[in-house]
Amino acid sequence: KKPAGAPDKSLARPVNKVGVVGAGLMASQLALLFVRRLKVPVVLTDIDQQRIDKGVSYVHDEIDKLLSKQRIAGDEANRLKALVSGSLSKEAFADADFVIEAVFEELGVKRQVFAEVEQHVGAEAILATNTSSLPVTEMAAKLEHPERVVGFHFFNPVAVLPLLEIVRGERTDDATLATAFAVGKQLKKSSVLVKDAPAFVVNRLLTRFLGEVLAAVDEGTPFEVADSALDPLGLPMTPMTLLQLVGPPVALHVAETMHAAFPDRFGVSENLKRFVDAGKSSVWSWDNQGNASVDPEVERLWQ
Ligand code: 3HC
Repeated sequence: KKPAGAPDKSLARPVNKVGVVGAGLMASQLALLFVRRLKVPVVLTDIDQQRIDKGVSYVHDEIDKLLSKQRIAGDEANRLKALVSGSLSKEAFADADFVIEAVFEELGVKRQVFAEVEQHVGAEAILATNTSSLPVTEMAAKLEHPERVVGFHFFNPVAVLPLLEIVRGERTDDATLATAFAVGKQLKKSSVLVKDAPAFVVNRLLTRFLGEVLAAVDEGTPFEVADSALDPLGLPMTPMTLLQLVGPPVALHVAETMHAAFPDRFGVSENLKRFVDAGKSSVWSWDNQGNASVDPEVERLWQ
């Protein structure tokens, strides 16, 4: 069934090579997904070779895991691994038809990335952003071809969660959108078209949900009590584990975006801010048996 709002699929252009800007955790997960499902060359770029090597190794290791779980055959694993490469230069995107960025969540940084990518790709190459809350229209505004920009927002863990939010910017054209839906289908995701509004749809809900749990802690409920109180609802993971998965800096960024857009409806946890400002990224610490407990720093920072 055609997803609501998707243009006619005959407008979709083929994607024979993919570029990924960034080689961090999200970007590497995207590289893995694209190579596994599209089976085309995927090139990762980043600002230093160490990050690139780490990203490519992540993809190779995950392909090995798929092999050991017998999800793919040995020759397929080798073929997929050979399709993944890294480069320090965006020149490597020269013949890419689809480039997705998953770099730092700052509008200026993402605009700069797209402006650079545009210097190296053909006029019809699609530029997709995995932003979790920034405006796609503004990201495209100063480009030569703003009509080729689309939001492509995945959820963590990318290999497991089926949802893909596809965001149409004001200037995004039908061919770009049709290609985005065709790629979403090849990736075996459930694509939904969402408006270019702050945090789209899912992160509005997620921010409200995590925000209320964090507010309860800010107001004096012990951290572990707030985290376990929802257990009877049968959620797949507790709120603080979800916060950990999303990453406290990302969660804070989305909360700040929502607060800026709707100050009367969304707050920002002072304690989360203090925690992130202190350079902490983990709410858990693990003993040598692998059991997680709340990091003592959380208790110090969250008062
Ligand atoms: N990376 C890759 N694969 C992972 C993974 C990870 N971090 N975590 C789990 N998996 C895989 C496992 O390998 C396993 O795969 P297999 O079936 O091939 O062996 C499968 O997922 C199921 O894992 P488990 O059986 O160990 O664990 P669960 O059944 O508890 O499922 C979960 C784990 C899928 C992560 C589940 O807890 C869940 O759905 N949690 C909610 C996650 C969520 O809400 N994410 C959205 C975050 S919001 C976001 O990303 C947007 C951003 O913009 C902020």
